[in-house]
Amino acid sequence: MTLYRIVGGNRLSGSIKVEGAKNAVLPILAATILNGSESIIENVPDLNDVETMLEILKNLGCRVYRRDNTVIVDSSSITSNEIPTVLVKRMRSSIILLGSLLGRTGKVISSYPGGCAIGVRPIDLHLKGLRMLGAHVEMHGQIVCQGRDLTGTEIQLDYPSVGATENIMLAAVLAKGTTIIRNAAKEPEIADLQGFLNAMGAKVSGAGNHIIRIDGVTKLKSCRYTVIPDRIAAATYMAAAAVTGGKISLDSVIVEHLHPVLDKIKESGCIIETNCNHVRVTAPKRLRAIDLIRTLPYPGFPTDAQPQMMAACCTAQGTSIFVENIFENRYRHIDELIKLGADIKVDGRIAVVRGVPRLSGAPVCAKDLRGGAALVLAGLMAEGVTEVEGVEHIDRGYENLGQKLKSLGADITMA
Ligand code: UD1
Repeated sequence: MTLYRIVGGNRLSGSIKVEGAKNAVLPILAATILNGSESIIENVPDLNDVETMLEILKNLGCRVYRRDNTVIVDSSSITSNEIPTVLVKRMRSSIILLGSLLGRTGKVISSYPGGCAIGVRPIDLHLKGLRMLGAHVEMHGQIVCQGRDLTGTEIQLDYPSVGATENIMLAAVLAKGTTIIRNAAKEPEIADLQGFLNAMGAKVSGAGNHIIRIDGVTKLKSCRYTVIPDRIAAATYMAAAAVTGGKISLDSVIVEHLHPVLDKIKESGCIIETNCNHVRVTAPKRLRAIDLIRTLPYPGFPTDAQPQMMAACCTAQGTSIFVENIFENRYRHIDELIKLGADIKVDGRIAVVRGVPRLSGAPVCAKDLRGGAALVLAGLMAEGVTEVEGVEHIDRGYENLGQKLKSLGADITMA
């Protein structure tokens, strides 16, 4: 699929089930290497980044089976500890395999993931953590980490990096002694990784708070685990309801994980009703501007929902201000939103969005995953036809975004 063709103006209504979380399942799949046994993982979303991770696991010698949303990984027969360069280039987060391959085999070779569309994205904190556990790290065109006797230690992260926290957790599970990570990332996906590791017999505690403790164990076992729902996909669908003046219910969400976004959706004038694992969003005819959205590590407002909320603010009444604090190049959707008639000014990390009465359809190009989703949302409210190219970015991280929006009443065709 390369193109979405959207005829804007339809009000979305109905309910959908939110898929399993991309950012939770990727480190969990990386962790399956550690037990040298079978892991059954449920609620695995069907999206391209997951396919890439499964392909990497197969290349390393794992047996992988998939049936609908259940994936079985048998890592008893690992034959390689080199992550294929072509797959590292396809998915930056393959870097998460450093910790688990090192923990399992004592050595890992990977090419450097490099920067990506949304920013430079260094991995210094990942490598610093692995070195502190006793790994020898060399970087000559590729990354080579070696260390058969990793030993637990206290690691203070300079920044609560999600990936670095996960890599250190993965490397520490089979290390000797106790590892303490301070200033750890607190994202729900970190707690989900802890849940999976403990299901396979690891001793990890504290995830979700800023100090995580990992008591090394010598052996892990087979396990079965269900991945948490995707809070960013949920945020995207809530924003879709908001921009179309719609009314939609999301099933299978964890409401607690949604509060940073729900708060802003409410500020825009939507009515939010929550009940156990459901949330219902009822949008007004025209949204109100949101005073200030500052992206921050969890539980602050997620950078991964910034572009979608910006799309929602384009036709809101009044002026909204965005401050992007996590990635330096995460405004690539703005030029495309302007082609649709949005009034947005950017200065460094700050974007000022003045609400206009309407957007008009035009051809636009998705340049990254969440920016692409924002353009789809803008197309849903624009008058006339919007064609979104670059859908491959969107397919990396959403399970059938177009189909799901269509089931809610959007006029969208995929070509
Ligand atoms: C993860 C998510 C991504 C999300 C991001 C922030 C996955 C697969 N991806 O990415 O969707 O947008 O968290 O919530 O889970 N940094 C360094 N050095 C490092 C590591 C990070 O300087 O060694 C910087 C980054 O450049 C960035 C900031 O820290 O500015 C946050 O990055 P990090 O939390 O590591 O994000 P990712 O794990 O890459």
